Amino acid sequence: MRIVFVGAGYVGLVSGTCLADFGHDVVCVDNDESKVDALRQGRIPIYEPGLDDLVARNVQQKRLSFSTDLGECVRTCDVVFIAVGTPSRRGDGHADLSYVYAAAREIARHIEGFTLVVTKSTVPVGTGDEVERIIRDERPDADFAVVSNPEFLREGAAIEDFKRPDRIVIGIEDERAREVANEIYRPLSLNQAPILYTRRRTAELIKYAANAFLATKITFINEMADLCEAVGADVQDVARGIGLDNRIGRKFLHAGPGFGGSCFPKDTRALAETARQIGSPARLIDMVISINEDRKRQMAEKIVAACGGSVEGRTIAVLGLTFKPNTDDMRESPSIDIISALVEKGAKVRAHDPEGAEQARKVLPDIEYADEPYACAAGADALVLITEWDVYRALDLTRLKDLLAQPVICDLRNVYKPAEMARRGIRYYGVGRGELRDEEQLTVGE
Ligand code: UDX
Repeated sequence: MRIVFVGAGYVGLVSGTCLADFGHDVVCVDNDESKVDALRQGRIPIYEPGLDDLVARNVQQKRLSFSTDLGECVRTCDVVFIAVGTPSRRGDGHADLSYVYAAAREIARHIEGFTLVVTKSTVPVGTGDEVERIIRDERPDADFAVVSNPEFLREGAAIEDFKRPDRIVIGIEDERAREVANEIYRPLSLNQAPILYTRRRTAELIKYAANAFLATKITFINEMADLCEAVGADVQDVARGIGLDNRIGRKFLHAGPGFGGSCFPKDTRALAETARQIGSPARLIDMVISINEDRKRQMAEKIVAACGGSVEGRTIAVLGLTFKPNTDDMRESPSIDIISALVEKGAKVRAHDPEGAEQARKVLPDIEYADEPYACAAGADALVLITEWDVYRALDLTRLKDLLAQPVICDLRNVYKPAEMARRGIRYYGVGRGELRDEEQLTVGE
């Protein structure tokens, strides 16, 4: 099967490469020539574990290639995936669909024979209808079907998520699409991934509902964390205590500095905006968005409090800048707002990130960057852990304490144990860890 991906960004590149790895013949098309040139030379524009090797293998075996010529690729393919960006529109926060519609128009001009057009980009409900209308207007004679096939890839684990998904969702309006979609994903049926066929609008909504639900779960546990601090309880135990109930589930209950990234903030805003426009407001999602926004400022306040009420003239060492580990993605990372607030309050910030420093310099150009965690901590008045990269999980605490001017650690991801920090004489501030006690005692019998 010959498959074209329009957009060689995160989603297009990962999905295209994985489908090539399953034996399909895949071309990733992008109108950014420098990106296509780089990819042809084996340079991957994003950091995603395992992706470079997978791209190299499939390019070498001639199942994967890159092009800027959309027309030529579409004429000879069976399936076109639209995987272009849908950023938040300035002003109303709704998804900007101009790239999706431009891709649809261009695809239309070159369709030959029955072609399946698949929207992979995260698009608001009804976008599939509009894509279909655009193609039909442009080429009334074209033989095609438009399906919605949302992605559920997590950055940092995208290859695994693609190859072993919990489910595949496909929204169709034309029965012919089912057969083609089955063939695309047949290799995945070996992993027994359920394929859920729905109407197109339903599939579009499933994607937003999934992300909004996860964002709500995180926001819920973050609120519980605040409550834990106020009443002297421990949010890690609360998360475990509720998460062991299968109806709730253990995942996405890590309290922290609020969600960020390229999906949750954008998708919750777009869902809330769709709901508003249609006259069926999503009040819960509105709240989630606003609580999460406030949370970053609240985290800066927490750091100020840990520093005794002021950070004026103080040096704050920050470990971890990306919105989560195993990515170099800085989009809507909580670190941006937290650090900006600290700088505004007069702090001098020195930061370290294993993979994200280059991207971070673009959004946080005025702070200092250290090459490794201990150099970052040296002489600082407080150490703040914002992103839980593995390299920060086993830091030499004795060395850190000696290096810091003040033994203050704000661990916004609850990587360390409060009791151990207390034993070492470190003033430790986690998130929602109001209870200071000996963990070991409590976990006996697990
Ligand atoms: C998310 C969805 O998981 C994925 O299915 C979708 O397709 C794209 O959006 P991603 O943005 O890569 O993926 O990151 P994810 O791992 O979901 O984390 C999002 C944010 O939530 C991060 O800032 C993370 O730190 C935060 N988070 C996650 C928490 O604060 N607590 C948690 O328990 C889980």
